[in-house]
Amino acid sequence: MDLKIAVLSGDGIGPEVILQAKKALNAIGEVYNHEFVFEDALVGAVAIDQTGNPLPNQTLNLCLNTDAVLFGAIGHPKYDNNPDAKVRPEQGLLKLRNELGLFANIRPIKPYQALLDASPLKREVIEGVDFVIYRELSGGVYIGEKKLNEAGTAASDSYEYSEEQISRITHLAFKAAQKRRKKVTMVDKANVLETSRLWRRLVQKIGESYPDVALNFLFVDNAAKQIILNPRQFDVILTENMFGDILSDEASVIASSIGLLASESLGHNKALFEPIHGSYIEATGKNIANPIASILSAAMLLEFFGLINEANKVYEAVEKAFEHKIVTTDLNSFSKFGTNEVGDFISNFILSKDDLLYFNNDNVHIGQSTIV
Ligand code: IPM
Ligand code: MN
Repeated sequence: MDLKIAVLSGDGIGPEVILQAKKALNAIGEVYNHEFVFEDALVGAVAIDQTGNPLPNQTLNLCLNTDAVLFGAIGHPKYDNNPDAKVRPEQGLLKLRNELGLFANIRPIKPYQALLDASPLKREVIEGVDFVIYRELSGGVYIGEKKLNEAGTAASDSYEYSEEQISRITHLAFKAAQKRRKKVTMVDKANVLETSRLWRRLVQKIGESYPDVALNFLFVDNAAKQIILNPRQFDVILTENMFGDILSDEASVIASSIGLLASESLGHNKALFEPIHGSYIEATGKNIANPIASILSAAMLLEFFGLINEANKVYEAVEKAFEHKIVTTDLNSFSKFGTNEVGDFISNFILSKDDLLYFNNDNVHIGQSTIV
């Protein structure tokens, strides 16, 4: 298969983790005879620095004319700490989601066997957890009109949803549940929000056309607690934009590190793949960022294009890295491995490099290992 992939590495650790994802994809291409052509483009704070625009037209046009987008990370403290900034890096991602019509952000949460004791949550709570968050991406308070009065003393963000926005992701969530454990949990705040009541009415109605799927509802405050207390109860969580954003960061604790969580964002004919973590500016260039979320996002890209064996190879490589303890320091504070070494291990595993067979954990130090 030939795929043209727009690579928007973005800010902070984005470029270094995306580099590892590219290495994994190149290895897959080599082993399975696919041609992946990458084209880099600017987004976020780096794009503002160079062009004044967090999503330059050239970047947008590239994304509109490629098969998929691989996205790194976005954000910079110089904007986070300046509420008066006129342009913000995040606007680049929000505009891109809007222009590509991306409406469903899908975030799988499943702890790896080898990492069950790495999470701050108890093993007996997280063992066997396997759920996926369907986060609505095109509406809600993210998108509604933003206002600040002239005196700068009062502000509002409007929070809106239409039936069309709700129904398209709801169908995707139910279809996903049909292929899984057949349960959808809708998370909302219907005891307070009118938008949530619209969601509930419609989701209930759509649910009737999926009689094989059980549907239940949780208020978001309770859901936030249940994710920590009893996460095994979930199969597919369906929720609106901001609740999905917050709950997925919370759920990353189950996986033990946010550096492991990948996502795909789908539109009618566009798809973007990105780790859910941020730009972690303090770690930039230090070779300490966990590249697994980006590598897994690349695996989701492969799956999206029906390259199932290829995706499984990447998942297997990631599992092997954990088994051999080739992990970054967020997973093991004593680890001697960095972003590059983890990425090298994974691409070498995919390429079935012989030196891996003689891999000796004791000999592996940065600069001395067979995989460096
Ligand atoms: C995410 C991020 C973004 C979001 C930011 C960077 C705008 O946190 O993808 O989860 O809030 O959607
Ligand atoms: Mn987020």
